[in-house]
Amino acid sequence: MKRDFLTLADRTEAEYRALFDRAHALKASRKRKEVVKTLEGRHLVLVFEKASTRTHLSFEAAMYQLGGTVSTITAGSSQIARGETIEDTARVISGYADCIMFRTFGDDRLTAFAKASRVPVINGLSEGGHPVQIATDLFTVEERLGSVKGKTIAFVGDCASNMGLSFVEATGIFGFNLRLGCPDGYRPPAAVLAAAGARVHVTADAVEAVRGADVVVTDVWTSMGQEVESAKRKKDLHDYQLNEALLAKANKGAIVLHCLPAHRGEEITDGVVDGAQSAVWDEAENRMHVQKALLEQLILG
Ligand code: CP
Ligand code: NVA
Repeated sequence: MKRDFLTLADRTEAEYRALFDRAHALKASRKRKEVVKTLEGRHLVLVFEKASTRTHLSFEAAMYQLGGTVSTITAGSSQIARGETIEDTARVISGYADCIMFRTFGDDRLTAFAKASRVPVINGLSEGGHPVQIATDLFTVEERLGSVKGKTIAFVGDCASNMGLSFVEATGIFGFNLRLGCPDGYRPPAAVLAAAGARVHVTADAVEAVRGADVVVTDVWTSMGQEVESAKRKKDLHDYQLNEALLAKANKGAIVLHCLPAHRGEEITDGVVDGAQSAVWDEAENRMHVQKALLEQLILG
């Protein structure tokens, strides 16, 4: 039976441990310029219904470096734009590929696509989550600070974004504490928070969220697909910018994550992105190492 990777809950903590160990080994091999060809003869297809830089290039680099091949389509350049259904698209690609990555809008599209696919499907970002990014973020935290278990992560800004939602989901699996700093209207749904339990604390006070944090995270205020709300979001989230003054309230030695792209001067300042506490460039690179390990797990079993 194929196993998809649509949400973080699709893997156990033990499986993430194995994934992270393999990603560390693959990263070390890459740094030593060793060639690892575990996916020779295998093919990955990437399907994008939204823009991408990191997800596109890190999956391509991961697959090619492991000896496999990749094809990429966007909704606009494919028959999806002319009305071919998601299910038919998935059925056809299943005949060419050993694994498919899909970036889309609603989670109903993602699950319909995965159901119709005969090969494993990876969520490359949907409205409900960004699991490959959060897995990479936690890998990056452990690389810098050691085990994430018991650590405190603060997320400020749009806590109802796919990034915010996946961080909430991750708390139960990885055992860290999450402090969300956001105004009303930007909180994850009540049912999501209730399911996460006491590990997640929500406050409208950004300073309270960040105080005592080992890791401080933010995300764009306007996610892809929300562009018409941009002006309102800038106004509503103005007091939640991750700037030097806010970061100073976190623990000494705290690191900063941002999945990127950053909208410098909006949700984060230049001084924070480019500052000594920023881990964002390692975070972006680590997408490739973690996804290599994930592709091996999904394709080789
Ligand atoms: N972080 C991330 O997924 O970036 P892209 O939108 O560039 O893929
Ligand atoms: N929340 C952002 C993440 C981009 C990687 C978006 O969905 O646009």
